[in-house]
Amino acid sequence: QVIDARGHILLPGFVDMHTHLREPGREDTETIESGSAAAALGGYTAVFAMANTDPVADSVVVTDHVWRRGQEVGLVDVHPVGAITVGLKGKQLAEMATMAAGVGRVKMFSDDGHCVDDPLIMRRALEYSSSLGVLIAQHAEEPRLTVGAVAHEGPTAARLGLAGWPRAAEESIVARDALLARDAGARVHICHASTAGTVELMKWARGQGISITAEVTPHHLLLDDSCLETYDAINKVNPPLRETSDVDALRRGLADGVIDCVATDHAPHAEQDKCCEFSIARPGMLGLETALSIVVDTMVTPGLLDWRGVARVMSERPAQIVGLADQGRPIEVGEIANLTVVDPDASWTVSGKKLASVAHNTPFEDMTFSSKVTTTVLRGRITVRDGAVANTGSVANRAGE
Ligand code: NCD
Ligand code: ZN
Ligand code: ZN
Ligand code: ZN
Repeated sequence: QVIDARGHILLPGFVDMHTHLREPGREDTETIESGSAAAALGGYTAVFAMANTDPVADSVVVTDHVWRRGQEVGLVDVHPVGAITVGLKGKQLAEMATMAAGVGRVKMFSDDGHCVDDPLIMRRALEYSSSLGVLIAQHAEEPRLTVGAVAHEGPTAARLGLAGWPRAAEESIVARDALLARDAGARVHICHASTAGTVELMKWARGQGISITAEVTPHHLLLDDSCLETYDAINKVNPPLRETSDVDALRRGLADGVIDCVATDHAPHAEQDKCCEFSIARPGMLGLETALSIVVDTMVTPGLLDWRGVARVMSERPAQIVGLADQGRPIEVGEIANLTVVDPDASWTVSGKKLASVAHNTPFEDMTFSSKVTTTVLRGRITVRDGAVANTGSVANRAGE
């Protein structure tokens, strides 16, 4: 197993805290197998599969399946994210302890599955999570402020006649849950931060000593609401693409460490759910295979982050936040490594049909990026070589437990 890495950048394997793999329930858009291939091609050695599957991952039956299937495929560790509540109108906490003790060892629970719109339930969930030592990932959307909303509330959306989704929908939840986490002595992680105000609130909460962390997606680092001019629903996403001033604030926040890490929010959708009217299209876009390239072009090229910083935001911080001991560390002598090799001068053009995902909904179609993942190594085994999935024979990855 020789890797020719001359002129290439060696990084610890990437960890994605926010991936939607659609298994069980929507295997026509992504499976754990296809999503694992996309993840490995993107340089990931661990991903967290979000809870909004069908059925929702609110029981150990689903969370154990997700982990087992990921190990069977053997391309990336697929950590299940559990739902905070069970289906009963979001009023009852799920058996988090059972999921945490299962084969899938759930470390993170989220409201992305069953919406938790009762602040009292969120408060109880934070208290419970703190006693279990698990993390709560907050989708950060006040549902009563986003009814009927589709696009960013701003001049572009107003001119196009698209119903606006206000910043306050995100920021009010960030502020609320920072305070709830403080009182519960818990840790809370903010999913897909999208506004300048959220960056300010993160600074404030950190200053108060609150245990709060946040992620930003590659699409919120690259795209703004000018993409909406075409009414192409490929650009529809939760939270929506916002203004250039928000993009700038997110980039700076990531550079300063106020935003901890990059997470893809990889969200595969079927053709018919994206190629339709903006207002009825499903929100979300593919992200795993383009993440590194976008981080380089938006952060490294403009001098906001060096390669050390890339290791921090793509691998080390997410592994620390969610408590993965065997990921996100610099490679030590004699260690069985999780690695990603990047060619910093490999210009490539995105084509949705060539991505490994079952769905093709990339908003980056025909865009050219300057760098690319060439090789990924999971616990000493090459999963991607020369930008293609290596033939692993789908053997169970026994070192995984
Ligand atoms: C997510 C999805 O498709 O599962 N979509 C998205 O736009 N982020 C769900 C969600 O978080 O709203
Ligand atoms: Zn979300
Ligand atoms: Zn999501
Ligand atoms: Zn399409």
